[in-house]
Amino acid sequence: MVRALCGVVALDGPSGTGKTTAARRLATESNAGYLDTGAMYRVATLAVLRAGVDPTDADAVVEAVRRARMEVATDPAAPTARLDGEDVSAAIRTEEVNRAVSPVSAVAEVRELLVAEQRRVIREVLDSRGGIVVDGRDIGTVVTPDAPLKVFLTASADVRARRRTAQDAAEGREVSFEDVKASVERRDRLDSTRATSPLRAADDAVLLDTSELTVDEVTAKLSELADGRGLLGGEVAGMCR
Ligand code: DC
Repeated sequence: MVRALCGVVALDGPSGTGKTTAARRLATESNAGYLDTGAMYRVATLAVLRAGVDPTDADAVVEAVRRARMEVATDPAAPTARLDGEDVSAAIRTEEVNRAVSPVSAVAEVRELLVAEQRRVIREVLDSRGGIVVDGRDIGTVVTPDAPLKVFLTASADVRARRRTAQDAAEGREVSFEDVKASVERRDRLDSTRATSPLRAADDAVLLDTSELTVDEVTAKLSELADGRGLLGGEVAGMCR
């Protein structure tokens, strides 16, 4: 029997917690959609960089983001990202984008634009598939505060940097562990201290420390939490209502 996820699972936390991999697995196993909101902020950042705009110039950033045509696919098997029709799935993972994404995503108007688009996509996927796993920093606090399951993932900085280094190496990017650790810590500091929608756990989120867990274990834990909330109800996709 194929069990389908019904409703929204909101997954938040800093980078390197295994959030994205586990979110995609959970969505795949439960026939749900998947939305990587971090990819949306990355596409917006790439648009800013390609427009030759200074990422700290808020007005120019908003203008560049408004002009950009951004699409992030919701199929967990192929969550491609597009900017003005071009597949930028690899181009949004460079160190240049890593450096600029925090200032761009700290701009309140950029967040307003992207949150509105995220809510639109979530509604569309709920209508078509019944369930979606949403991965980000402010999903449980801002984007879908009424999600029936919110999980906030954490892991030690060392573990997160090790995972990011391995991921970069696997995707052909040459980086040192020290540089990755510094980049991850810098981004978390900026994301957690910004004025608009800082990275934080919702009051009713389940906290999950993944430092000692494998991806399979994290996925199993998420699945167990979803089941405990009665969200793995449908027998096949589309049987949620
Ligand atoms: O998940 P990620 O590392 O690809 O996210 C990239 C950046 O986007 C992250 O440093 C902060 C920002 N972000 C955000 O501000 N809000 C979200 N919902 C998702 C990501």
